[in-house]
Amino acid sequence: MINIALLGFGVIGSGTAKVLTDSSAEIAAVVGDDIYIKYIVDLRDFPGSPFESRIIKDFNIVLNDPEVQIVVEMFGGSHPAYDYSLAALRAGKNVITSNKEVVSNFGDELLREAAAHGCRYLIEASVGGGIPLIRPLSTSFVPGDIYEIAGILNGTTNYILTSMTEAAIRGKPIYMKECIAEAQRLGYAERDPSADVEGVDACRKISILTALAFGKLVSPDRISTKGITGITAEDIRSAVARGNQVKLIGRAAKLADGRVYASVAPCEVPPSCPLSHVNDVFNAVLVRGRALGDVIFYGRGAGSLPTATAVVSDIIDIASNIGHQPSQILWERADSLYTDKAPDDGGFVML
Ligand code: HSE
Repeated sequence: MINIALLGFGVIGSGTAKVLTDSSAEIAAVVGDDIYIKYIVDLRDFPGSPFESRIIKDFNIVLNDPEVQIVVEMFGGSHPAYDYSLAALRAGKNVITSNKEVVSNFGDELLREAAAHGCRYLIEASVGGGIPLIRPLSTSFVPGDIYEIAGILNGTTNYILTSMTEAAIRGKPIYMKECIAEAQRLGYAERDPSADVEGVDACRKISILTALAFGKLVSPDRISTKGITGITAEDIRSAVARGNQVKLIGRAAKLADGRVYASVAPCEVPPSCPLSHVNDVFNAVLVRGRALGDVIFYGRGAGSLPTATAVVSDIIDIASNIGHQPSQILWERADSLYTDKAPDDGGFVML
């Protein structure tokens, strides 16, 4: 039996428990062992939950239990998520996270800690929700081949922009506040949805993708970021009249001189670009390689069960490989290499 602990029993944590339970027999067949949720750390009580007896408030119980081999951090926010992740890695436990705030700010350090302590730090759920994206980016591309990534990285804002576009086409008014409330109800939005609409969430994700594609981690607070709060119904109507769509685009590129460009901004996207057809909560990431050409990843970028499948894929990866350590990918902190000057417009007109 492989014992795991979930940190957080919110949208993603409860989804992870459900996916693990619903597919337990199939997962055990792949892993060759049962996965058992021994603890769930959450400050709230969940009376009547089938996991009620396993919910604890003290993370130290997890840390001091040698039977726990995998800690799955789904708290969100930097603290205590970062501190608990670091402590778990230093205790030799594998850590999995969906937390883009922690990965984009501390991912380089946590990956080094994992390598130093013979364990792993996996982050599939941190970008693109349920889209299998991080593992292919880490293992399926030829190192050095990728020169650009562009994507719709935030489900909440894409849901809002899609609603605004539909309303603009029908000549109806649209209220961003109501769209945000609906995105929260559907489990898409961040606890503080200003992180979605101000572009911060997408910025963290493009920071992570930059690190994965180029091995260079640029701090999110360095990356030029503009959200969708300034987008008006008129912006949407004008774009639609030109046959285009307004999308929040995260873009990163490796320049010939070694510098790294990244940005987040609302853009007009022409119909010739596949990203213009990505609607609602869906995310899509376009990866461009010199030898490879273009590849697109597409799927649900937020929501409990889709994101939970990404977490579970990391659990299966680690549980299947316990005892034989796969190689680790390390990131170099590269704030000094950052430039906000794009090599070209990439076909996106920033608003
Ligand atoms: N708030 C995020 C989004 C959740 O809307 O994309 C998934 O990271």
